Formats: sequence, structure tokens, C-alpha cells
Amino acid sequence: MKLHINLKKITDNSYDIIIGTKLSSVAGEIAKWNDVSKYFIITDSNVRRLYGNKFLKALQSHNVEAFIISVPAGEKSKTRKTKDQLENKLLKLNADRSSLIIALGGGVIGDLAGFVAATLLRGIPFIQIPTTLLSQVDSSIGGKVAVDHPLGKNLIGAFYQPKKVYIDVDTLKTLPVKEFRNGMAEIIKYSAILDNKLFSFLENNQSRITIHSASRQRRASPQAGGGQASLIHLIYRCCELKKMIVEKDERETGLRRILNFGHTIGHAIESLSYYKLSHGEAVAIGMVAEAKISAALGLLKQSEVVRLNNLLQLYKLPTDIPSRMDRNKIVQLTYHDKKAQQGKVQYTLLNKIGKAIVGVTVPKNIVKRVLSE
Ligand code: NAD
Ligand code: GLY
Repeated sequence: MKLHINLKKITDNSYDIIIGTKLSSVAGEIAKWNDVSKYFIITDSNVRRLYGNKFLKALQSHNVEAFIISVPAGEKSKTRKTKDQLENKLLKLNADRSSLIIALGGGVIGDLAGFVAATLLRGIPFIQIPTTLLSQVDSSIGGKVAVDHPLGKNLIGAFYQPKKVYIDVDTLKTLPVKEFRNGMAEIIKYSAILDNKLFSFLENNQSRITIHSASRQRRASPQAGGGQASLIHLIYRCCELKKMIVEKDERETGLRRILNFGHTIGHAIESLSYYKLSHGEAVAIGMVAEAKISAALGLLKQSEVVRLNNLLQLYKLPTDIPSRMDRNKIVQLTYHDKKAQQGKVQYTLLNKIGKAIVGVTVPKNIVKRVLSE
């Protein structure tokens, strides 16, 4: 005897990304949403102090039931233990399937709160309010949610899309410069793999792009005008590129791997530095290494490698592997990356600036040679 459970269906997980909105108006807008029983802001200790408490008050001023829960800032909070603690708190506060989780913060909060939302009561709705440049151009979009495991980053997670993404560019005014550079590394990555016009824009507008985020350092200059417009242009374009990729390959079965450019070598370097190198710094070094591998395979002109190297340096990102880092260990670690399949490391490499190819297997000796040059 046999029974067939037919679950073929078309789901609609579509959502909007609103760029340039103000946090205060977001509170008013979501407070009007129908069918939300309670609002739970999940944030980190820094963002709570800067924006979270105010956002909670703004929500409560609309007579809705709202709570805020914060975790210590930083990657160390992206764990199963923190997820467990959040779930305990949410359940004690009687979260139900009509509750809305609001991920307010950088990529750590988006990934963590999104994963909590994905599994609590088998899935409750959440929205993303990203407050770092990296999260505004990348991590808040596309539904990858996860926590880390001692064996590697993002090893436990899900694909779970938010209901909406609200980007308030003004929040970047308080962002530390190091975090701004992390975001710039991902922006440069988008341009290198997908958009040579964006790459040229970055080459030609550096003074406008840094000035806005660094405004807290009072580094006003004659070129300061247009800083916010340039930044909004960048964020919009990166969101547009990510939207295009995610719409074609939500679950990373092919095209979405293009976003891994620089990350194969980058992740290995990040972990061998014991996270002293930030994600953006490691990816910057990884992009140059992978561009050199592309050139070694005859895929990319040497002059394009130099262009990429120069652009990263223009944005004060490192491009050389730390001299004392063991090259063999870097190669070894690439085989433990979650992107490795059946013992093969799949690289995303460059054809030219603005064009990449996914799924290239590179002979180990070539990788070793390039890393040792
Ligand atoms: P983060 O969330 O740790 O934020 C960096 C720091 O900036 C933190 O100390 C935070 O408190 C602080 N901060 C956040 N917003 C601020 C603001 N407006 N002003 C001042 N300080 C602020 O780091 P991140 O770089 O945003 O995200 C990194 C994480 O994103 C990693 O865990 C990475 O794995 C993940 N990620 C996920 C995806 C995805 O598709 N899901 C993509 C890329 C990266
Ligand atoms: N940041 C990689 C991805 O979203 O696929």
C-alpha cells in the first residue's frame, strides 16, 4: 500500500526593501500592521543604547505591546546558546505566531534574530532593520539566517525571508570607521563580480563616499557635499544586485555562489587570524588572492588584478596575506569550508572587472603557488 503526500505548491515570500526611511517613521508604520499581537525588538548592547530604546518608546507611543531584548555586541553572540536564551525570553513573554520579531542591528543580529524567528513556534514573521553598512548592502537581504558553531561560521541555519527590510542610512553616522570599511569590502565585491560601472564609480568618488560615515570624526571637507547621496546610490545599487541574484537562486544552488568571491580564501584567513582580521579585511585579502588565481588560470588580465588591489587600498582595506600566516594552512582550511563539496573547493573567480564565474575547481598547486608569491 502506498500513500502520496502531495505538497507541490507555489509560495510567495516576496518583500520590499525600503531605502532612506527614518527609524521613527518605521515605528509608526509597523504599529499599524494588522494581525500583530506583540512586537519584539532583538538588538545588541551598542545598538540598544544608540537606537533601540528610542525605537521601543516610539513603538509603545502607538499603543502597541512592545518589548526589547538585547545581547552583547559582536560575533560571540551568534551562538546556539544565545539563540536558546532568546527563545526562553520570548516564550516567557508569551510570544505567539502573530508576534513580530524586529532584528535591529548589524549582520550578527539579523542572522541571529532571523534564525530565532525561523524556528520559534515553527516560524514567526520578522523584519530586518539593518544598521551597519554590511548589513544594509548584504546580510539583511536574501534570507540567510544562522548561528555559528565551534567548527565554523554559519554552520547551523536556514533560509527564512523577512517580511520587510527598512534601511535608515542615518544610522551609519554612528558607525565606527572599521565597520564602515567592512561594508565597503562587500560593496567592492559586488562591483568586481557584477558591475564594472559601479567599480568605476567607486574608483572616482572615494572622497564623497567616506565622508558621510566618517562625519562623526568631524572630517568635513570641500568634497563633503553629496556624501549621503553617493552612499544611498551605493546601497540602492548593491540591494538591487543582491535582489537580482536572490530572485534567480534563493537557495544558493548555483548563481548565488557568485557572492562568495573572496570568501574561500577570506574565511580561511579570517579564522587563521583568530578573528583579529575583521570579515571585511579578510575578504579584501581573499579577493586579491582569488583575482590572482583567476589570472594564474588565464581568466583575468594582470592589469585587472592591479585595479582591484588599488581600489581596495583606496578604501583602506588590506590586500596582502599577513607575512607570518602559514600558506599551507590557508589551503588546508579551504577544504573545510562549508562551500567545499565532495573534497573539492569551488571557487568563484573573475573573468574581468564586473564579470565572475562560479564553481571553478582550482588545482591545489596553483593556489599554493599564488599564495606564496
Ligand atoms: P555586527 O552585527 O557585529 O556589527 C558590527 C558592530 O557595529 C557591532 O559592535 C555593533 O554593535 C555595531 N553597530 C551596529 N550598528 C551600529 C551603528 N549604527 N552605529 C554604531 N555601531 C553599530 O557586524 P556586521 O558586520 O554588521 O555583520 C557581520 C555578520 O553578518 C557576520 O556574522 C556574518 O557572518 C554575517 N553576514 C551574513 C550574511 C547573510 O547573507 N546573512 C551576509 C554577510 C555577512
Ligand atoms: N552574503 C552571501 C549571500 O547572501 O549569499
